[in-house]
Amino acid sequence: METAEIRRRWLAFFEAKGHTVIPSAPLIHEDPTLLFVNAGMVPFKPYFLGQETAPWDRATSVQKCVRTGDIDEVGKTSRHGTFFQMNGNFSFGDYFKREAIAFAWALLTTPQDDGGYGLEPERLWATVYREDDEAERLWLEETSVPAERIVRRGRLDNYWSMGVPGPGGPCSEIFYDRGPEYGPEGGPEVDEDRYMEIWNLVFMQEELSEVRAKDDFDVAGRLPAENVDTGMGLERIASILQGVDNMYEIDEVYPVLEKAAQMTGRSYGSSSGHTAGDSDPDDVHLRVVADHVRSSLMLIGDGVTPGNEGRGYVLRRMLRRAVRAMRLLGYEEPALPELLPVSMERMSKSYPELRTGFERIAQIAYAEEQAFRRTLAQGTTILDTAVTRTKEAGRDELPGDQAFALHDTYGFPIDLTLEMAAEQGLKVDRDGFVRLMEEQRQRAKADARAKKGGHAHTEVWKELRALGATDWRAYEELTTEGSIVGLVRDGARVEELEPGQTGQVVLDRTSFYAESGGQIADSGTIVVDGATLRVRDVQRPVNGLVVHTVEVEEGPVRVGAESSARVDPNWRVDACQAHSGTHVVHAALRQVLGPSALQSGSYNKPGYLRLDFAWNQSLSADAKAEIEHVANLAVRDDLPVSAAWMSLPEARQQGALALFGETYGEQVRVVEIGGPWSRELCGGTHVRHSSQVGALTLTGESSVGSGVRRLEAFVGMNALSHLAAERALVSELSDIVKAPAGELPERVSDMVARLREVEKELEKVHREQVAASAGSLTEHARDVAGVTFVGHHVAGGGSQDLRQMVTDTRAKLGEERPAVVALTGDASGKPVVVVATNEAARAKGAAAGALVRVGASALGGGGGGKDDLAQGGGQDAGKVEEALAAIARELGA
Ligand code: ALA
Repeated sequence: METAEIRRRWLAFFEAKGHTVIPSAPLIHEDPTLLFVNAGMVPFKPYFLGQETAPWDRATSVQKCVRTGDIDEVGKTSRHGTFFQMNGNFSFGDYFKREAIAFAWALLTTPQDDGGYGLEPERLWATVYREDDEAERLWLEETSVPAERIVRRGRLDNYWSMGVPGPGGPCSEIFYDRGPEYGPEGGPEVDEDRYMEIWNLVFMQEELSEVRAKDDFDVAGRLPAENVDTGMGLERIASILQGVDNMYEIDEVYPVLEKAAQMTGRSYGSSSGHTAGDSDPDDVHLRVVADHVRSSLMLIGDGVTPGNEGRGYVLRRMLRRAVRAMRLLGYEEPALPELLPVSMERMSKSYPELRTGFERIAQIAYAEEQAFRRTLAQGTTILDTAVTRTKEAGRDELPGDQAFALHDTYGFPIDLTLEMAAEQGLKVDRDGFVRLMEEQRQRAKADARAKKGGHAHTEVWKELRALGATDWRAYEELTTEGSIVGLVRDGARVEELEPGQTGQVVLDRTSFYAESGGQIADSGTIVVDGATLRVRDVQRPVNGLVVHTVEVEEGPVRVGAESSARVDPNWRVDACQAHSGTHVVHAALRQVLGPSALQSGSYNKPGYLRLDFAWNQSLSADAKAEIEHVANLAVRDDLPVSAAWMSLPEARQQGALALFGETYGEQVRVVEIGGPWSRELCGGTHVRHSSQVGALTLTGESSVGSGVRRLEAFVGMNALSHLAAERALVSELSDIVKAPAGELPERVSDMVARLREVEKELEKVHREQVAASAGSLTEHARDVAGVTFVGHHVAGGGSQDLRQMVTDTRAKLGEERPAVVALTGDASGKPVVVVATNEAARAKGAAAGALVRVGASALGGGGGGKDDLAQGGGQDAGKVEEALAAIARELGA
């Protein structure tokens, strides 16, 4: 069964059982405790914790996940993959253990012809948490699993948490017996290779305050409700249903592995035995390639770009590890252009946006491979120097700081340094290297904490919150009188802030809007007796507490002082325009495209808005124009804007749009524009009438990956200045082209057409010249070991010219004698080499691909191709004669 089908059946099964199907969230999630989404439940965390009310009682998803903790294990065992998909069903205070178990059993054992997965019940085992008598009883009541196949296990295996403070609970896992060829009998306690975990049912019921290890954590208390969170590894069930050994061999992954094997001429699976643990190194490298290429594809697809820290670094590392694995398999050419499209072909069945966005994804991946190739070339020289110095100093160990510098400055991986140093008989001071790496990591962490502000000092915020909730008056007034409740600097409470310092201020009452729901924080000042604080940011790090980040312009200020919080009124007007504009665009979008174009995220600030929405293709010019038109009609119609508080069910009954991933409390605020025309759950600030949005002009529409499009617009004064700037541009163009604005399109397209003609003409002349010079190339023919050899440099020749010339010349030389034509060129300053052979030469063993490689390596580059025609390139155009000589030598001169 194809993976895409397994996925479809999963969603259909749970949808039929009353679950709302939720599309996978992108791999990057706002949760600051996570690098990537690493479980199906991540997007639902606030619902489990009771911080927000879930918009549905039951949900199901197939969530994209990345786990990178075990990156070094990838390929060595069959259980580790960096990217995987987690099928999940979730209950938010609705059903609990009994249904979770019954659902799982039904889906697993229902015959395939009836829509299930059709696993043999006799192969299934269940585990339950040590103290969970209830779960064991339910397994016996709801399924045909006999008592002897139900195993009790402790916290280590059967208590699930996120590894950080958050929700958790005892769990019950389902294992599949893959048969005696995989290991000894006895169930999961004996052998987790033979008995493979496929599905984890978590009975989420507690909140953990601290997690030191899987089996060492503190429980803060019960969650407000009893929930269910399950996770089935899609790749694992696919390996079972496809009858393959491990996740690298399923339909979504194997084609990449196969391609890599073919490119490197290795055969996969030469090692014996079923457990990947004792695989030979080639197999491990091939699996690394297959896994990392796919993970990189998915990460770039979701907007990650290679970088030196955080997510970007993980991606960079994976791309480089994949390239490096290919090199270790003997493949030195750019590998990703061959591999990435194969992965895209497979993955786009479930994620069509990978195909539409492939150009962008490929560009990022290929550029990274190029950069890594340069790094390798550069780093090798630096490493050689370091090695020589170390040897001259009579030492046998490369200092840790040099290994670190290679890594840090040139991105040279440590394993490569170790290996290459070893080749020259040197050790590397690994401890020194590791220490420096750790120091750098600490610096990066401190940096990230400083950037995230709020998250670093949760304790401090909790203390301040305990003094009382902020009286938040952002909706009512722009200036609010109050007093300073607390001051914070560098994460600690202080009594005073001095002029010039930056810190955080908590007031008992404020009118400043705190960033949320896509709207950025208000700008303005807080005036204290004798002091002015400029407000740079406003956040609500914990519920009920508003925190202003300020720069003290005059001061000092002290805790307890009376304060006047003054929002810049112009700023606020512009901000309201932008936020109401966002709702207007959203409603217009849904009116034009239909209700499935649902907003998935938004951002707005004075003068600008952007809105991300679920949609799979780019919008036509007509659709964009219509959306803009409908939005501006709504502005003209001067629709009333109002906000009201109500319960979530009430809001839903009114058809208010609740956006996934937003924060909703028990009472929600519904903002409507023109009554039902636009009704959204929203905590933002708004204009009172739609006409106050002013002008609205769409400026961009683009893809942001994962079937999500982005619309951008300017509003209010900013829209007018944007239009004015465009008008100025048109008038400038008309000056240049010397035509009135109305005639510009015709004039410019005429000019472009003429230019094309001229280019064609030039091209023709060029071809004729090439043909003429090809005529004389045979004059350079000489005999090299019984082969007629033409080796010549064509100054200014490009690769296309050369290809034409080698084939023409080869044709002129005829088929009687073995003939090889090798030409070099240097169009655009970079040397290229092209080789053609005729059949008689090939019969004598002269292969163009091999010859080109010899030539290209003399040029400091690489190349390849078929036996009859091949092409390569390099760096050093001064070496073309050497390259030709090397080719002649290879022929036996
Ligand atoms: N959240 C659970 C897991 O990741 C289902 O295993």
